[in-house]
Amino acid sequence: MLSLTNKRILLGITGGIAAYKCAELSRLFIKAGAEVRVVMTRAATEFVTPLTMQALTGNRVHLDLLDTEAEAAMGHIELARWADMILIAPATADFIARLANGEADDILSTVVLASSCHMAIAPAMNQAMWGDDSTQDNLQTLKNRHYQIYGPAEGEQACGDIGPGRMLEPEILLRLSADMFESGALAGKHCVITGGPTREALDPVRFISNHSSGKMAYALAAEAAAAGARVTLISGPVNLPTPDRVTRVDVISARDMLKATMDNMDSADVFIGVAAVADYRPESEQQQKIKKSDQEMTLALVKNPDIISEVAALENRPLVVGFAAETNDIVENGRGKLEKKKLDLLFANNATETFNSDSISVTAISTDGDTELPTANKNVVAREMLQLISERLK
Ligand code: PMT
Repeated sequence: MLSLTNKRILLGITGGIAAYKCAELSRLFIKAGAEVRVVMTRAATEFVTPLTMQALTGNRVHLDLLDTEAEAAMGHIELARWADMILIAPATADFIARLANGEADDILSTVVLASSCHMAIAPAMNQAMWGDDSTQDNLQTLKNRHYQIYGPAEGEQACGDIGPGRMLEPEILLRLSADMFESGALAGKHCVITGGPTREALDPVRFISNHSSGKMAYALAAEAAAAGARVTLISGPVNLPTPDRVTRVDVISARDMLKATMDNMDSADVFIGVAAVADYRPESEQQQKIKKSDQEMTLALVKNPDIISEVAALENRPLVVGFAAETNDIVENGRGKLEKKKLDLLFANNATETFNSDSISVTAISTDGDTELPTANKNVVAREMLQLISERLK
């Protein structure tokens, strides 16, 4: 299935008759999971209305560099940074010439000049204009700057000529755009990740918990989103900002975490249990603050549900990936947990080094054997972990 999950596509429309096809194109992009924003040249508005594009994308259309209202909502530099890809469709001969010359005299050419994202154009023009040396020279200039040139198709033209110059159909532009993001190793997958500690309340002011900072889970969530996944991060109480393009569900206790996990299992392709879940909770939570007395105090604890084991026991289970932070016999203990909890893959790490640290080293354990991932920043290791996960998904 074609997927543009999480991708941000800026559709630049210039003034050609094929502009009317952009309504269908933006609809297809959105259906494939992309967020779409539209920038139109003045000439483009003669062929398709900004209102149509706004209604289809749910976002205000950008028409003017000097439109203070639009700039206040999202300025043109912000727009240039926002996009993962800019597709100019249709791209007229005139606009191609302006791009090749590096002009920045309207909002679309300015955004293009200010952006370092993937660039693609879908030319559309009369066949003689397409064949003209100056157009071909301009296209070569853009190719040298790593622009993708999509089409054009050949056939009967609006002007009655026959030859090359028709804009490619929206379905083909969708496929070419999705192919460009193919490198997203988790494109279109739903990845559910638990992270951080859980807190098990003793009374209104006290709880049992641990030192997990959430850094490892948040790094995995950010990198999975960057690899094209739809990410749900079920997070215990931590002090970290939500990574871009990640849906975060905040929970407190192990039982909350179990419920939030199960709520997401129908659509999950991968479950990654990074959370340091409290194995036990107080037998009962006191409604009033427990008072100090002269007596010793004994806490009665009961077992919490084992979230990852419950996921692994589902009939239609996703790929199930666990973690184990161990103080001794790291790999042996990790392998024991992999087998006991019936996991597909487990990342064993040294508990005395990894809690709240920015770096980690792990051993990836599976029935196929062990792989060492040497010490590095948690984001770097997260990318290597996701590579192993995506290989297993295949
Ligand atoms: O958050 P950071 O500061 O970045 O630290 C990262 C980390 C140390 C928390 C992380 O690398 C890690 O190792 N997480 C797992 C901690 C642990 O030791 O878990 P465990 O051995 O108790 O559990 C093994 C697996 O079962 C884990 O995937 C855990 O999420 C899961 N589990 C455990 C208990 C339980 N009741 N339910 C579970 O799902």
